[in-house]
Amino acid sequence: MKKTTKKWSGRFSEPTSEIVKRYTASVNFDQRLAMFDIEGSLAHAAMLKKQKVISANDLKLITTGLNQIKKEIISQKFKWSIDLEDVHLNIEKRLTQIVGEPGEKIHTGRSRNDQVATDMRLYLRDVVDQTIVQIKALQKATLSLAEKHIKTIMPGMTHLQIAQPVSFAHHLHAYHQMLERDKSRFQDARKRINVLPLGAAALAGTSYPIDRKFVAKLLKFDGVMENSIDAVSDRDFLIEFNSNASLLMTHLSRWSEELIMWSSPFFEFIEISDSFCTGSSIMPQKKNPDVPELVRGKTGRVNGHLVSLLTLMKAQPLAYNKDNQEDKEPIFDVADTISDTLNIFAEMVSKLKIFPKNMETAALKGYSTATDLADYLVKKGMTFRAAHGVVAKAVKFAIDNKSDLSELELKDLKKFSKLIEEDVFNCLALKGSIESRKHIGGTSFNAVKAALKEARAKLSK
Ligand code: ARG
Repeated sequence: MKKTTKKWSGRFSEPTSEIVKRYTASVNFDQRLAMFDIEGSLAHAAMLKKQKVISANDLKLITTGLNQIKKEIISQKFKWSIDLEDVHLNIEKRLTQIVGEPGEKIHTGRSRNDQVATDMRLYLRDVVDQTIVQIKALQKATLSLAEKHIKTIMPGMTHLQIAQPVSFAHHLHAYHQMLERDKSRFQDARKRINVLPLGAAALAGTSYPIDRKFVAKLLKFDGVMENSIDAVSDRDFLIEFNSNASLLMTHLSRWSEELIMWSSPFFEFIEISDSFCTGSSIMPQKKNPDVPELVRGKTGRVNGHLVSLLTLMKAQPLAYNKDNQEDKEPIFDVADTISDTLNIFAEMVSKLKIFPKNMETAALKGYSTATDLADYLVKKGMTFRAAHGVVAKAVKFAIDNKSDLSELELKDLKKFSKLIEEDVFNCLALKGSIESRKHIGGTSFNAVKAALKEARAKLSK
């Protein structure tokens, strides 16, 4: 087996075997952290100079070298080497090649343990900020659609059975609210991401006279982590992010499921734009809702990563263990998946075609105003339980006669209760049912309009 020598191999009498090198290296995936790694190194070096650990000339050279490395990476001229294990050692080695001995001083008072924790936090802070912007864009697309459909009536469902008529905009606003909570979960998680681990070194801190608050300020962290052992071993922030991403995906998956159902010929409530569907290689008539199906599918993948990360951490003793290197691929994949999903979803929603007539016809089919009839009787003095029984009989009669409640004649309805009079037809109509739910959070057209207005105002803040 081919053997090589490593940067840290001074105490080793046998070189690393090829398979171990491949097994332990992370550079193929953690090179994505390069810009954050450099940002962290620049701040660390500036602090070392301020604290007189390195000279002004050292700092100057280190800064020039790191800036050159940035350019090399951007122009894809940088040569990543698996022999140098990870992003941190690759950059440090190149720095020394460019500037000589001062490059070897960059790691003073620092360990890869606090370095990688810092890189991940800088990376994730960016991801979270971008996620929040993308959630807002999807909320805007949702609201724009809802604003056009305040008076579109659809059958609200429970148990996937027709329950009560609702405004389509009200249904869309429910998704808006779910996204609102997602957004606030990411905003909240950001506070716990945005604290500086650097200075913890390997685990116990360092004997150099470092100024952690200075570094935190340079890197725009809100504060410093207050325990060096915790600083290098904590991965809660990744799990929390993944958990928030899982909930976000779960919401989009539920919505996808509805889009898939609504676009089927059994519903025909909506049409998903051709650009988000594909055909079948054998059935020429098919138009498959691939995008929402994949959103539903990718939710499993994001949830899977959450389980990976929880399992990764569950039996780790303090402080840093190499297990933690396994946090990266799941997190990168979660970040990419939610970013693509949010982008594509916003575009898909903005291009949905809605068929209000079909929605309303469906609402008429399912005796969706039966509860309104019960409420009508209660308002005329009957108890709700008794009214429930009366209406059940009326519905059975309507089913037997293949008609809707609103199509029954007054004399037939009167057979079920003497309390029923001509005004009953207001509440049996879909519109009447909807309009009667006027309270905050209800589906009356005005209540929905007010809710959308508030949502819009909050979004533009
Ligand atoms: N590549 C490592 C990781 O991702 C960096 C930290 C390595 N530290 C160590 N002592 N081996 O976690």
